[in-house]
Amino acid sequence: MCGIVGAIAQRNITPILLEGLRRLEYRGYDSAGVAVMTAARQIQRVRATGKVAELEEALRTDPATGAMGIAHTRWATHGKPAERNAHPHVSDGLAIVHNGIIENHSALRSRLSDMGYMFTSETDTEVVAHLIAAHYRQSGSVLTAFRAALKELHGAYALALVHEDEPDTLYCARMGSPLVIGVGCEEHYLASDPLALLQVTDRFRYLEEGDHAQLTCDGCSIWDARDQIVERPVQQYEHAALSMDKGEYRHYMLKEIFEQPQAIADTLTGTLGDNHVLTAILGPDAESRLADVRHIHIVACGTSFHAGLVARYWIESQVGLPCQVEVASEYRYRTVVVPDNTLLITISQSGETADTLAALRFARNEGYLATLAICNVAGSSLVREADWRLLTHAGPEIGVASTKAFTTQLVALLWLTTALLQVRGKAPEQVARNVSALRSLPGVIGEALTLEPAITRLAERFANKHHALFLGRGPHYPIAMEGALKLKEISYIHAEAYAAGELKHGPLALVDEDMPVVSVAPSDSLLEKLKSNLEEVRARGGQLITFACESIKQDGDQPDTIALPQVDEVISPVLYTIPLQLLSYHVALVKGTDVDKPRNLAKSVTVE
Ligand code: G6P
Repeated sequence: MCGIVGAIAQRNITPILLEGLRRLEYRGYDSAGVAVMTAARQIQRVRATGKVAELEEALRTDPATGAMGIAHTRWATHGKPAERNAHPHVSDGLAIVHNGIIENHSALRSRLSDMGYMFTSETDTEVVAHLIAAHYRQSGSVLTAFRAALKELHGAYALALVHEDEPDTLYCARMGSPLVIGVGCEEHYLASDPLALLQVTDRFRYLEEGDHAQLTCDGCSIWDARDQIVERPVQQYEHAALSMDKGEYRHYMLKEIFEQPQAIADTLTGTLGDNHVLTAILGPDAESRLADVRHIHIVACGTSFHAGLVARYWIESQVGLPCQVEVASEYRYRTVVVPDNTLLITISQSGETADTLAALRFARNEGYLATLAICNVAGSSLVREADWRLLTHAGPEIGVASTKAFTTQLVALLWLTTALLQVRGKAPEQVARNVSALRSLPGVIGEALTLEPAITRLAERFANKHHALFLGRGPHYPIAMEGALKLKEISYIHAEAYAAGELKHGPLALVDEDMPVVSVAPSDSLLEKLKSNLEEVRARGGQLITFACESIKQDGDQPDTIALPQVDEVISPVLYTIPLQLLSYHVALVKGTDVDKPRNLAKSVTVE
């Protein structure tokens, strides 16, 4: 998705802008550009399609240096990837970059065309550039023109603006798309993600919805949507110490898969007592009000949605609370029946996913008991807007395909299940058992990672495949869904997951010697039923690849079975995720795809 970086200093800021864009590359984009205020008080704009490296190449032939500038990586929404559509967009001595979608761009475009403005792109962003220019002609004040334009925009935006008539001032605004201000020593920066700015600062002011701001080297003024001056406190960024390079690993995804024992240990730090969970970490009054919860609604997208589906099995079987799980893009647009005392849980790695955030805002008026965000980014919009928060501590996840963020979400959800049990005074043995199972996870995951060589060999079988089926039962059905999603995301093999019992109701027709069937078969109460389903596949010549526990592997000759450690049933969904991640990673290597940046996908989907 699109990325924004901006800076104002008393030195050349172009290297800061470029490094910021490089740090946002993982989010997915198709073109990039910068606009720098030169010493001659003129905006110099350079844009290029393709990677940031191509923009750097363009800057070698057309160097842009200056003490203030804005930069952008674009992920096409309005208008195809092309230099003319790349940001920044300019009009009458100003330049802007924009994330989000302006919904009323057509009406504004015809009005501005009638006024004589010429459009050079198909973007909604160029409309905003001309709109600010039109207001500036009337008011002669950049701040007034910016405000007047913002009031006319419908939709979502994070915007940054520079104007040749004010070469020492940077403007920005946010509504529906994230934007942070970085605080330096007599320097200010802005970005759509703090990760872009960790090169220069770890201190940030987080803009709230509807805020706009004016930045100089040593000054920062912020106004809310009613143009009232507001204070947004400086906050220290938590993950500043974490490394963002690949280290010894070939890809971020592999590094992140191998970071899971540490990520899980970090997520559990400070959350567990001897035989109980420390519920006070959830936030003010959560501990007492958790006992009032009678229903749970979970809303999320993509991989985070799969984490929610696993949690439903835990919450309903252990706590006995009805739990409904839904993708945010559906939830936000339908009539939702909210029984009394319902807790809404949103799950998101980034905390900025447009649909999940909109679902949380929609839920505010639906009579929920409280809202809880499970999230990996402490300063994200989702965390700031929910009543309670449960942070995962996976560290920055750069690979587009989510791995350590998912398993740490599962850990947080099992912790929450345990907290719900504990505050009800129910089943202390189960509480103690969950706590001990959670504690064992980093070690168990470490063991599972040693299976990589065997999984590498299995992956070769997918070299000429175009389809695959994934099967699981109970809480391992959503794990099969997550396995199928990983495979399609990074290897482009069409993969579908089925609850194994559904196989004979349709998908069995697809099974032949060309169809790999991957099954998740831990030793649980459903194993015998699953074995019968697998026999149905074997009888039709399907290529079975089974992830099972050690005792099954010893149960006769099973050449295509990979054995995993025997663990408490409650944590096996977390454990069985690991081999599926490794499988999709190695299949992607065999297929030669761009593992960390798969085609068409974005890490953080901040538009609908
Ligand atoms: C995108 C990413 C997925 C992620 C989903 C939800 O589709 O590519 O990896 O699961 O967004 O993101 P979130 O940040 O809300 O977990």
